[in-house]
Amino acid sequence: MESKGKYYITTPIYYPSSNLHIGHTYCTVMADAMARFKRLSGYDVHFLTGTDEHGLKIQQIAEKEGVTPQEYVDRIVAGVKDLWKTMEISYDDFIRTTEERHVSRVQQIFNKMNEKGDIYKSEYEGWYCTPCESFWTESQLVDGCCPDCGRKVEKAHEEAYFFRLSKYQDRILDLFENNPDFLKPDTRRHEMIEFVKQGLEDLCISRSTFDWGIQVPIDPKHVIYVWLDALTNYITALGYPDDPEEFNHYWPADVHLVGKEIVRFHSIIWPAMLMSLDVPLPKQVLGHGWLLIDGGKMSKSKGNVVDPVVLINRYGIDALKYFLLREYTFGQDGVFTNEVMLKRMNFDLANDLGNLVSRTAAMIEKYCGGIVPPATTEDDIDRELKTLAVGVAPKVEADMNRFAFNNALENIWTLVRRANKYIDEKTPWILAKDEARKAELDTCMHNLAESLRIIAILIYPYMHTTTEKINEQMGITGEILWENAMTFDLLDGNRVNRGEPIFPRLDIEKELKELDDLRKAAAPEPENIPLELKPTIEFDDFAKLDLRVGEIISAEKHPKADKLLVFQVKMGTETRQIISGVAKDYKPEEMVGKKMVVVANLKPRMLRGLESHGMFLFAQDGERTQPVETTAASGSAVE
Ligand code: ME8
Ligand code: MG
Repeated sequence: MESKGKYYITTPIYYPSSNLHIGHTYCTVMADAMARFKRLSGYDVHFLTGTDEHGLKIQQIAEKEGVTPQEYVDRIVAGVKDLWKTMEISYDDFIRTTEERHVSRVQQIFNKMNEKGDIYKSEYEGWYCTPCESFWTESQLVDGCCPDCGRKVEKAHEEAYFFRLSKYQDRILDLFENNPDFLKPDTRRHEMIEFVKQGLEDLCISRSTFDWGIQVPIDPKHVIYVWLDALTNYITALGYPDDPEEFNHYWPADVHLVGKEIVRFHSIIWPAMLMSLDVPLPKQVLGHGWLLIDGGKMSKSKGNVVDPVVLINRYGIDALKYFLLREYTFGQDGVFTNEVMLKRMNFDLANDLGNLVSRTAAMIEKYCGGIVPPATTEDDIDRELKTLAVGVAPKVEADMNRFAFNNALENIWTLVRRANKYIDEKTPWILAKDEARKAELDTCMHNLAESLRIIAILIYPYMHTTTEKINEQMGITGEILWENAMTFDLLDGNRVNRGEPIFPRLDIEKELKELDDLRKAAAPEPENIPLELKPTIEFDDFAKLDLRVGEIISAEKHPKADKLLVFQVKMGTETRQIISGVAKDYKPEEMVGKKMVVVANLKPRMLRGLESHGMFLFAQDGERTQPVETTAASGSAVE
């Protein structure tokens, strides 16, 4: 096949701070499906993934584990590579940022940017989010926390090198405005335009308070900021700048596939760096959504991380990949639940595809001695099936060009379902009873085998092992060629080998229970993980509070607000009115008689026309707000 040209696709290089979870798997599975699809449709593909191994976060974790950062990342990266091997991820190169080829090229890149006049030394004073490895200014913080992840930030004040990001502000804005395909989906593009319009400040690109990083070539006291180090992986892996052959062949990247939280780095900082280097920009950055669990992001400390290895061991690689690609809409967040996953596996894989294969193989054995017969008749139903079958590939191609994996699979499944319905309409078991209808029966068997042949090609990018299993059962050998999915009637005389069901039916209730047990067994030992708190206060700030015990002597609904209850509260000699937003959790009569802690010197304020003088303390435990109660006498000070 003549090559349609090159296609260079990348995933983020993941932090080896802990084992990868289903979120990383999701991104890599998408990139792999795209790489396989492009190879199958005739492109010269280069698929790069890897690991981002430097930075403060990794250094801190290694210290905590009592090993060197290198030992730590070596262990985790071995696991990452194992996972991709088990999943048969078809990457062409895996780059580790601790490899010599990367380190020396990052230093050359630093020097080039410096020679361009884009780097200068100054003083950094601002905030740093270690989990995100990002710098923030005071005004960018939200409630004193990282605007991206909401976690605590730390003050950084040190001598540092800066990159003249501000110099590229107008060119970056032009890029977004004149090249609407550069960043997709559009929601992300609009966010980035807003961000750039607020003004780009020069970027701090070195740290000197820890040393797990690539040395600044002109100043060994500094290490290069981990994001500058990491972003360059997309070109250092290709040999830039000292080995131009592969670089010139594959660069610019066709797609950087990244999660939405790192779109800013890829669509603003990375292009500006490339502009500084006079290197062409990647053609596209695609920001995919997150897989959410229990309504939030997966995190180790919440103990809600889904381990892909558990799912692969139980259900197989193809079932997991199918689910991830079929269930979620590219660019949007999606909720992961075991139940949704198991249903997809049962309905689409065991019922629809699995049954089609088993029924077809069994019938060809029974009615045709195991040999796929030629088709010699044709009616409307046959024609409809054939027309549908050869028309799927172009639809899949169009879907894939939009990264609409779910639509591509849905289009393939229209054929799977149509073929199952074809069996019910043709009723081969009735045809088989009538010798005069042997030709019709043969045609039916032929068309089913043909449909499966086409389905096997169509699913190859997403589930290549299943392709092999179907081909094995249908006796199909030879190279898998995309254009063969657009032609009917290629089979004749193949010997069918009926085998095991390709997707066993799952007992969903039983699986749900076992997955839950596994998750509990794997839950990490309770650790002493510091809470994420508001900024520290001085004792004097605390001493300003006058906390007292207040006894509720009466309670009623607020006449104008459904959420509010109005209490009359006795505090020692005084009785006053306090209003609280607890009507959804408590009936007024449940509250009467409670003695609770009150912020007694809070300035009175009006709540929907009634004065509230003071505030009760409630513990917010997520389920039901709990009053902070005491048995001490009303009016007692709480200190
Ligand atoms: O950000 N849902 O690495 P990282 C979907 N080293 N995708 C998820 C996900 C989730 N819940 N969690 C993670 C870094 N991902 C940097 C990248 S690139 C030059 C440097 C995926 O280990 C998603 O693709 O935090 C996200 O962008 C990526 O993993 C972040 O991985
Ligand atoms: Mg991250």
